[in-house]
Order: sequence, then C-alpha cells, then structure tokens
Amino acid sequence: MPSTELVILRELLAPGAGFVSGETLAEKLGFSRVSVWQHMEKLRAEGFAFEAVRAHGYRLTRRPATLHQTLISAYLRDAAADLPVILLDEVDSTNDEAARQLAAGRAAPFVILARRQTRGRGRLGRVWHSEANGNLYASFAFRPHLPPSRMQTFTLWMGVSVCELIANFTQITPALKWPNDILFEGRKAGGMLTEARIDADEIRDLIFGLGLNVNSPATAWPGDLASRAVSLAERTAAPLNLNHFTAALLGRVFLAYGQFVRGDHADAFADLWQRYDVLRGQHVALLQGGRRIAGIAAGIDDDGSLLIRPPGGRLQRFHAGDVTLEKNP
Ligand code: BTN
Repeated sequence: MPSTELVILRELLAPGAGFVSGETLAEKLGFSRVSVWQHMEKLRAEGFAFEAVRAHGYRLTRRPATLHQTLISAYLRDAAADLPVILLDEVDSTNDEAARQLAAGRAAPFVILARRQTRGRGRLGRVWHSEANGNLYASFAFRPHLPPSRMQTFTLWMGVSVCELIANFTQITPALKWPNDILFEGRKAGGMLTEARIDADEIRDLIFGLGLNVNSPATAWPGDLASRAVSLAERTAAPLNLNHFTAALLGRVFLAYGQFVRGDHADAFADLWQRYDVLRGQHVALLQGGRRIAGIAAGIDDDGSLLIRPPGGRLQRFHAGDVTLEKNP
C-alpha cells in the first residue's frame, strides 16, 4: 500500500503533470483537501517546496538534494515501480545489511541504500570509503535459484548496464576495468561487489553491491584517494539530481537482473563489453596470488575470464586477479 506522500509525489512527478489540482490529489487519495495539504506540509518539512496557484493547483519547485526514500520510489517506473527501497542513514555495510535481511526471510528483490557506511567493503578485503558526501552505497538483494555456473558473467553484465545508465543520464562515457571497476578518465568512479550464498548447488541469496561516486566534491577524498578517485559531478557541469539518478539506476539494475536471469542478455553483453572495456589492446599486468602476468589484454571469453597475451606467448585466460594498466612496460 503506497504511502500518502508517495501518491502525492507520483502525481506531481508524472510526465507532463504541470500543476496538479488539490481536488485531483484528494480524489486519488480519498482524503479531504485539508488532509492533502497537511501531508504536503510534511513533505515541505523534508525539503520539498510547492508552488500553489489558485484554480490550477500545485507544482513541485524544489526537491531534497540528499537521498529521500519516498522521492526515489516516486521516480521508479514500470517493472521497478514496486521495488522495495530501504534507505538507512548509516549502516556498517549495505551488503551486510542485505545479507542480514535475506537471512531473516525478507522477500526479494529489495534494495538497501545508505547515506553513509561505517565498514564499506571492496574486493580483496579492501575498505570502500563511504562518507555521507552525496555518493551512493547500494546493495540489491535477489534470490535467483540459478546454478552457480550461470553467475560467472553476472558482475560484468551489471557493470556494462550501470555504465549504459551513467552514459545516458550524464552524457559522459565511463569505462570498465575488469572485473569490477567503473572509471572516468582513469580514475575510479565506482566499484561492484557481488556476494552469494549457495545451497544445494543453487544460488539462494545474491547481493549486488554498488558504490558510486556521484556528487562528492574533489576535496572529499582523504590521502592518496584524491589522485585515484573521481565523482560523476566532477565531470558534469552541475551536481546530479541524486534521487532521480538513483531511481534510474535502480530501474536499470532491476531490468538488467531480469535479462540476466532469463538469459536474453548475451548479444548485448558482448557489444557493450567491447564498448566500455578500458583494457582491450593495452599493456596490463595481472596479479594472482604471488604471480604476476604481463601482456596485452584481449577482451574476455564467454565465461567472463580476462584474456591476456604475454609477449611472444599464447593467449591465457584468468578467472580472478587484480589488473593494472602498465604505462611503460
Ligand atoms: C570494489 O571496487 O572493490 C568494490 C566496492 C564495492 C562497494 C560497495 S558500496 C555498497 C556495498 N556495500 C559494501 O560494503 N560494499 C559495496
């Protein structure tokens, strides 16, 4: 059952809505106009502003700049319109919270968002810097009931899907560094961390964690992160509308997940990987355990393994590892 505030915001955000009359809102909600007005007061207190014009109704003139759960839900459309969105002010890790909620039996899919993480995690046990500075920390929880072998390209497919959304929303083209980095001009703008619980040879719980630097200023990065990290807003003229962007992202991830489960993503995946792959044709070095393999990156194979051709050698494939671009091999 959508909340009153959600119904009001959906009406005001509907394409071509312009002014929405108090009567229309009251009818939709089965409330009196006074009661509608009281709910709009509540929204005002949360950072919204409305222009009210006699005989025309209301129009939205300001939205909160920070994440707002009802506003994100109001922006969600089509198949994602009913996706449960849980927004927390602070959490240890959204991936951990999603795992706890799945373990407690919460129905999937759902998404956990946080304004700040106290123990944000990256791949290989790394820390994900997670201050409340306008960036996005999100974990999507699913119960796919697929064999683990089907998951090999999951994070890569999600990566190209997120890149498509960023490119469409910002007109800036990101790049992907196998297997889970989203880059802008060589700096890290985002990272993905997929975690799964496997039972009786099927994926029972699947968590897709995404950290995306959206609106943080260049001054937000501590220490050596300043030279390695970048936010989308550092490359766009103005900060992004965080709630609209988040809803678009949620919709895209939800859509991409459905395509992946149905298996109808394969052709698009090959094309999109080529479009965003920053390593292809470049000198790279891959660290795997204590081994270092250097060579020219040659894309990925069907199961998402990275292909590297060492100098004078045969093409080799790698399921895991940490890759760096070699400027002067
Ligand atoms: C990486 O680049 O190594 C992956 C980083 C993933 C960070 C995100 S932020 C939301 C979710 N919660 C976490 O603790 N990690 C992921």
